[in-house]
Amino acid sequence: MTYEAIRYEAADGVATVTLNRPDVHNAMNETMRRELTDCFAGLVADDTVRVVVVTGTGQRAFSAGADIREFVAPQVPTVFRESRKRVDFRQAMDRCPQPIIAAIRGFALGGGLELALACDIRVASDDAQLGLTEVNLAIIPGGGGTQRLPRLVGRGKALEMILTGARIGASEALAIGLVERVVPAGEVLAHAQTLARTLADKAPVALRYAKEAVVKGLELPLVDGLRLENDLATLLRTTDDRVEGARAFLEKRKPRWTGR
Ligand code: COA
Repeated sequence: MTYEAIRYEAADGVATVTLNRPDVHNAMNETMRRELTDCFAGLVADDTVRVVVVTGTGQRAFSAGADIREFVAPQVPTVFRESRKRVDFRQAMDRCPQPIIAAIRGFALGGGLELALACDIRVASDDAQLGLTEVNLAIIPGGGGTQRLPRLVGRGKALEMILTGARIGASEALAIGLVERVVPAGEVLAHAQTLARTLADKAPVALRYAKEAVVKGLELPLVDGLRLENDLATLLRTTDDRVEGARAFLEKRKPRWTGR
């Protein structure tokens, strides 16, 4: 699949999706949004990909958010209605059974941070700058930021970031739980890909069910979440890979997963 505003590569069970508009700090235009939706919709059904890494091209930015040049054109009602009907690419990401890792170098602002928030694990460079800066443009985050940020960092911190529109650095992002790891600039993609390969080595169905139990469980009351966990754990007791995992341990060898 060839794209214009993103790049897609896959090898050894790890797919890398790269936002690719370096001239504008990988800002998201309509083409990028459409391509990300198509790309993640395709990944839902792709069993050869076990883990996805999302990153931005260049050294300065993961993404500076929505392409502000598109804001200047007046909104025609029909175009606006059509765009509202489309599935947001972050919802397509939510449907992805594979773990998604964000490798964040430099700026992750507005929709760029919302993209990172829709990922499962965030690795940031020590020079990263993160913020939901929409309020500075008289708008609010519209790609899930007002919902996903407070679920990650709590109501007060989320409101502080959203209402001030301020950017925070990597060490503060780590301290408040907005990113999971901070690594030296220049190592962020390699670090995320090593982490991705570590995950891709796990039994494929266990990896997917572990993500499903956590992500779907968070949307449920505790009693229903526990039931979901129990159902998925029970299903995993029926797999060939469970027997293989136990045998490999007892025989002191590396397991050979079949995904069955
Ligand atoms: N949309 C469109 N173009 C953008 C952009 C965006 N979100 N962010 C940056 N660009 C463009 C700039 O206009 C500039 O283009 P030019 O070279 O044709 O002038 C180029 O990318 C480089 O950006 P510049 O502002 O010169 O770089 P900087 O290092 O001084 O500042 C940022 C970087 C990210 C802090 C700054 O560009 C910025 O604040 N961008 C807007 C971020 C934002 O508010 N996003 C939320 C949108 S809802």
